[in-house]
Amino acid sequence: MLNRREFLTITGLGGAAILLSYTAPVKAVSEKEVKAMPYTAKDYSKLIGMEGFSETLLKNHFTLYQGYVTNTDKVMDILNQMLKDGKTATPEYAELKRRIGWEFNGMRLHEYYFENLGGKGGINKDGKLAKKLTEDFGNYETWEKDFKAVGSMRGIGWAVLYQDVTNGKLMNFWINEHDVSHPAGCNPLLIMDVFEHAFMIDYGLKRADYIEAFFKNILWSAGETRLK
Ligand SMILES: [Fe+2]
Repeated sequence: MLNRREFLTITGLGGAAILLSYTAPVKAVSEKEVKAMPYTAKDYSKLIGMEGFSETLLKNHFTLYQGYVTNTDKVMDILNQMLKDGKTATPEYAELKRRIGWEFNGMRLHEYYFENLGGKGGINKDGKLAKKLTEDFGNYETWEKDFKAVGSMRGIGWAVLYQDVTNGKLMNFWINEHDVSHPAGCNPLLIMDVFEHAFMIDYGLKRADYIEAFFKNILWSAGETRLK
């Protein structure tokens, strides 16, 4: 019987450590009963060897992603236990409910990011995504300029090309950290990680050089598939 759960989250590289703890009653429902099916980290090792991305950088990034998966499972597990224990009206429950958005999106955004990498040759100018970008931005080059400008903004977060499913329009968005500024009801098509851990090992402070490397390796077919 598990009667004490703790989880430790390290936010980013060299970030602050946050320790949250929850003590469940000894006679609580068994761990087996409440444990949700754990989510498993995906394997993106096929990306090793991409031009402009060192093996060290990618392996560190994969490890960081796996941490988000682990913590998402842990926080979900603790929240499920607290629900079973009738502990929902507690500050601990409220803080973990706030926290899960950060962990979950940290996990999922990395999956979108890794899954839209590994391509070569640039966008298919005759494809449906290029046509849609031209329709909404005037031409591909204007979209690319805007997306790179979003990715160059100071701060840590993500540059994301979204499709607003209510009207089909495409737009570039800045996601702060992992959880702030997601446009409701929109579908992410292309994701670029611009946390320092995504580029500093290879490029130091030269984020623009990393963005160029990212563009050389976009798997545009992933974006095409995500487009509705
Ligand atoms: Fe990342």
